[in-house]
Amino acid sequence: MASLGVNIDHVATVRQARQTVEPDPVWAAAEAELGGADCITFHLRQDRRHILDRDVHLLKQTVQVKLNMEMSLADEIVEIALKIKPDQVSLVPENRQEVTTEGGLDVAGQMDRVSGAVKRLRDAGIIVSAFIDPDPAQIKASRDAGFGAIEIHTGKYANAKGEDELAEALAEIRASLSAGLDAGLIVHGGHGLTYRNVTPVAAMEGFSEFNIGHSIIARAVFVGLREAVAEMKRLIQEAAK
Ligand code: PXP
Repeated sequence: MASLGVNIDHVATVRQARQTVEPDPVWAAAEAELGGADCITFHLRQDRRHILDRDVHLLKQTVQVKLNMEMSLADEIVEIALKIKPDQVSLVPENRQEVTTEGGLDVAGQMDRVSGAVKRLRDAGIIVSAFIDPDPAQIKASRDAGFGAIEIHTGKYANAKGEDELAEALAEIRASLSAGLDAGLIVHGGHGLTYRNVTPVAAMEGFSEFNIGHSIIARAVFVGLREAVAEMKRLIQEAAK
């Protein structure tokens, strides 16, 4: 059964709206663990718009489950990852104007740069995952670049309108999952997954991890983070039966 990674950036976004100390994403990580999170995911952006360096150090010291750092290929951030040594890094594209990560990483289009960073991170004992669109060329490139894992971008499925678009997006995810597994990669999924749309994806056999943020934090405002995480975990477990 796939494990659940909870993305806590959205808690830091609320804190940074006032540039104050609350709510603390480090507290959020502890609450998410108590709700059953198998992994805590955060994104240290170059512009430090939500997660701060202080958070990264405290998360490394306090998180008891798997720690997954989303990051760009920027030299400064790669150096931080090599010092902190999270269990896993997920390489994502980063664009200063975007509200959230928009598309997948173009591994095929920047093989030399990507594979250099992947090798350094893997040599440090870190699992290295590529956040990519459900595209066969990117899956092949991820394997060739030395990634041990991929995270299939589920945003197109999440935004699909109407049954045809939905069926097409699900078929792309299914094909990418199977191509990733055939290539010997660990396969994760994430982006835009919610309590309403997670089941058909979680029912696909072979996913190792889902990374979910916005929907969980949005529900947590009303039911508390521990309960929100437990509800999402229940849906993933039930879909896998
Ligand atoms: N996976 C990756 C690589 C992401 O960048 C994000 C967004 O930060 C997520 C998963 C979670 O997306 P959402 O917040 O839409 O659940």
